[in-house]
Amino acid sequence: MAEISPSIEALLSEERRFPPSQEFIDQANVNDPAVYERADADYEGFWESWAEELHWFEKWDRVLQWDPPFAQWFIGGKTNISYNCLDRHLTGARRNKAAIVWEGEPGDWQVYTYADLHREVCRFANGLKSLGVKKGDRITLYMPMIPELAIAMLACARIGAPHSIVFGGFSPESLRDRINDCEGTVVITADGGYRRGGIIPLKQNTDEALEGTPTVEKVVVVQRVGDKFEGSMKEGRDIWWHDLVEGQSRVCPAEPMDSEDMLFILYTSGTTGKPKGVVHTTGGYMVGTYATVKWVFDMKEEDVYWCTADIGWVTGHSYIVYGPLANGATSVMYEGAPDYPDRDRFWDIVEKYRATIVYTAPTAIRACMRWGEEHPKKHDLSSVRLLGTVGEPINPEAWMWYRKNIGGDRVPIVDTWWQTETGSILITPLPGITTTTPGSATKPFPGIQAEIVDEKGAPVGPGQGGYLVLKRPWPSMLRTIYGDPDRYVEQYWSRYPNIYFTGDGAKMDENGFFWILGRVDDVINVAGHRISTMEVESALVDHNAVAEAASIGKSHEVKGQGVVAFVTLKEGIDTSAEMEQVLKQHVRTKIGAIARPDEIYFTADLPKTRSGKIMRRLLRDIAEGRVLGDTTTLADPAVVEMLKQQYEDEE
Ligand code: PRX
Repeated sequence: MAEISPSIEALLSEERRFPPSQEFIDQANVNDPAVYERADADYEGFWESWAEELHWFEKWDRVLQWDPPFAQWFIGGKTNISYNCLDRHLTGARRNKAAIVWEGEPGDWQVYTYADLHREVCRFANGLKSLGVKKGDRITLYMPMIPELAIAMLACARIGAPHSIVFGGFSPESLRDRINDCEGTVVITADGGYRRGGIIPLKQNTDEALEGTPTVEKVVVVQRVGDKFEGSMKEGRDIWWHDLVEGQSRVCPAEPMDSEDMLFILYTSGTTGKPKGVVHTTGGYMVGTYATVKWVFDMKEEDVYWCTADIGWVTGHSYIVYGPLANGATSVMYEGAPDYPDRDRFWDIVEKYRATIVYTAPTAIRACMRWGEEHPKKHDLSSVRLLGTVGEPINPEAWMWYRKNIGGDRVPIVDTWWQTETGSILITPLPGITTTTPGSATKPFPGIQAEIVDEKGAPVGPGQGGYLVLKRPWPSMLRTIYGDPDRYVEQYWSRYPNIYFTGDGAKMDENGFFWILGRVDDVINVAGHRISTMEVESALVDHNAVAEAASIGKSHEVKGQGVVAFVTLKEGIDTSAEMEQVLKQHVRTKIGAIARPDEIYFTADLPKTRSGKIMRRLLRDIAEGRVLGDTTTLADPAVVEMLKQQYEDEE
């Protein structure tokens, strides 16, 4: 377990405990600790009772068919998640309740009631049909955080066309690869999106991406930046959103989908250079996101819930759109950056909409800590009753800061562990039951069997570290990797037979609480976003000056981890500060800003094993200034000594 951070011993001696207040317990959606045992004794029955709270056109015949590693849930059931997020709420008082409260970066805002959202989703779904979109067609969304993004998702789901959302910060090339992998026929984008006062040229990026995408026939473009748009529309291919929905009927019946029909594909980084298209299906994903919103976020009719993620990542899919709307909740959506126009923007939004539940990433909390507590202090945050975090381990200091400055030292915090692949939260406190401790995601959600095991798959004891695995299927688990079922089996189910390998290291404390330590594979977690070392390396060697490259994640005070690269230039090319900038920019252009290395070190050679494998572990030791680990397998020990010296000199 070379990857385990040295500070873990300090973490495990954390003694602060925060039980929920009696007031919170009394009103909580779940406050009986016996739910864990009951779910454990009959996990199929547990999930079935959640499914029964939702709408099905036809009920399932069986809850689970488990042919490891392939699971099917609610077999034979017919449902539609768009129906459950919209139509189900139209008959009673929720009809005119705010579904989406949207705040644009420039300060514009809009509120969609459930009735409004239903109407717009139907109109757009009819628009898609008029373009020839049919059930099963893959639709790529490359959009800013505007209401049309949620509308487009729900419209795709309504007609059974799986969506593939590509985060707006990705480069044209990344967009192209993702469109081609799933052979998308329609792309939905915008003329731009606002970010820190500037404009992200989404349409121009799309045009560039579409130079190599043979399957795309139509592009729908939302007008967001209007006069500031500097791109153009391509005759016959591109159509404005407002023109497409003009005159469309406000009625579009939701397609009855088989529980196991594909709902969406979401690309995420794995251990190779090529992102994986994680496939989620309809029924199980709906049940998982619905259940976790109700219990983990203790969602109530009157809550105003804000998840600060971008919908381009799984957190936004599950916890801005599907989970909250399936619960009939009010979900806040914000387009821009936390520090624009000022560093109190988040807290201004909380005050403005009287948000009661806030869900964000540790990286955002650490940034706010650095900016200072005067920013939240400017605002009345007394509406807040529950806080959540996701995406990366949270250091106890950031947890305490969040509790004190945002939660007024009185509200529970749920540190939620999960992944793109898991679809919904799997390890988390239940706020009306769990006594939390800063830095620990605490316990598996009821019905989930998570364990920490050693190399051989044997469970480790209290105080021990190992690999985090999941021993039972759960409804919202990924079903496969799009177009690559072998990779699904190999990536998640081959290290231990019939057990899901998460790729994370974890430790168990004396109380049986889980402490997630981060990835044990070649995945870097930058500000809660996954990047594979191979992707960065492929982008670097793509530059004609580069002979060889290795990249690693290095601890970063705010981002959790930052990308560091070690590069060998081709013979005859000189190293320079300018070349460093050129290469950083090259990675940004190839992948997107999140993958841009913080530091690049030029080296004549990279440490390799005798069989030629780059020893990233040693590079990590060098970058972190640690004592070097085992060097006996190195082909040339002098390389690493030289590199260490050079690194220390440059630091
Ligand atoms: O390493 C874990 C980390 O984020 C990874 C999953 O990343 P992604 O698929 O992009 O999904 C992020 C949002 C769900 C995990 O393998 N991670 C996520 N949540 C936590 C976490 N690490 C520690 N604590 C968490 N609460």
